[in-house]
Amino acid sequence: MRPPNRTYPTDNGAFYGLERRSYGNFSSANGLLKGQKGALNMTTLTKGKFVQMLRTSADIIKERHQLLSELDSATGDGDHGVTINRTMQAVVKALDENADKPFAELLKAVAMGVMMCDGGSTSPLLGSYFLGLASGAVADTLTATQTAAMFEAGLANFRKTSKADLGDKTMVDAFDPATEALVRALGETENHHAAFELAAAKAKEGAEKTSEYVAKFGRARTMGERAIGHLDPGAKSISYIFEGFSKAC
Ligand SMILES: Nc1ncnc2c1ncn2[C@@H]1O[C@H](COP(=O)(O)OP(=O)(O)O)[C@@H](O)[C@H]1O
Ligand SMILES: [Mg+2]
Repeated sequence: MRPPNRTYPTDNGAFYGLERRSYGNFSSANGLLKGQKGALNMTTLTKGKFVQMLRTSADIIKERHQLLSELDSATGDGDHGVTINRTMQAVVKALDENADKPFAELLKAVAMGVMMCDGGSTSPLLGSYFLGLASGAVADTLTATQTAAMFEAGLANFRKTSKADLGDKTMVDAFDPATEALVRALGETENHHAAFELAAAKAKEGAEKTSEYVAKFGRARTMGERAIGHLDPGAKSISYIFEGFSKAC
C-alpha cells in the first residue's frame, strides 16, 4: 500500500531529453507569445504535426502507465494505466493505418479505433473526444482560429458523453482548463507552441487539483470523502496527453 498523499514524482520533462520550459502563468507566457520567432513559432497546425503530437503523447502514456494504474488502485480498480495505454496504442495503430487520409477522416478513424478497443470507461470517453476533433478538422492545415475551434469541438463532444462538470474529479478537470487556455492563447497569437505549452500547464494544474475533490463519476464516487487526497488517474492521463502535445508542437 502506498501512502495516500504521496507526491507524484514523474512529470517533468526529462523523459524526452527536452529542456523543461515553464510558462505556468500568463504573464511569462505573454512574453513568449509576443516575442518569439523561429522554429517554435508554428503559426498553423498541420495534419502531420498533430500526428507527431499524438504519437508523443502515446509514448509518454506508455512510459508512465504503471503510475496511472497505481493511482487507479487507490480510488478505482487499478486498471487505468492499462486502459489508457491500450487506448493510446489504438490511436497509434489508426494513425499508421490511415496516414494518407485527409485530417478529418484520419481523426474519425482514430475515434473508431479508440471506441472499438477494450479500454474500460476510457475508450468511449476518448473516442468521443476524437470524434469531436474530427468534426473540427476542416482542412489539413489549420489556422490558429481553426485549431482553437477543433479543440473546442473535441471538448464539447467529450462532455456530451462524460456529463461531468469541473470539480467532479474526472478527466474534465484537466481537459476543460487546458482547452480554455489553448483557445484563449490562440485568440492572442498564432504561436501554436506557446499555446500548447500553456494548455499543458493548465492541464497539469487541473489534474493536481483533483486530489481536493470528492468524485461524482466513475468508480471513485463510491469512496465519498475517502477519495480526498488522491489524484484522479484520468485527469492525470489527460495532462500527460497535453504534455505530449506541447513537447511535439
Ligand atoms: N463520466 C466521466 N467523465 C469524465 N471522466 C470520467 C468519467 N467516468 C470516469 N472517468 C475517468 O475515467 C477514469 C477511470 O478510467 P478507467 O480506469 O480506464 O475506467 P474504469 O472506471 O472503467 O476502470 C477516472 O479516473 C476518470 O478520470
Ligand atoms: Mg479503472
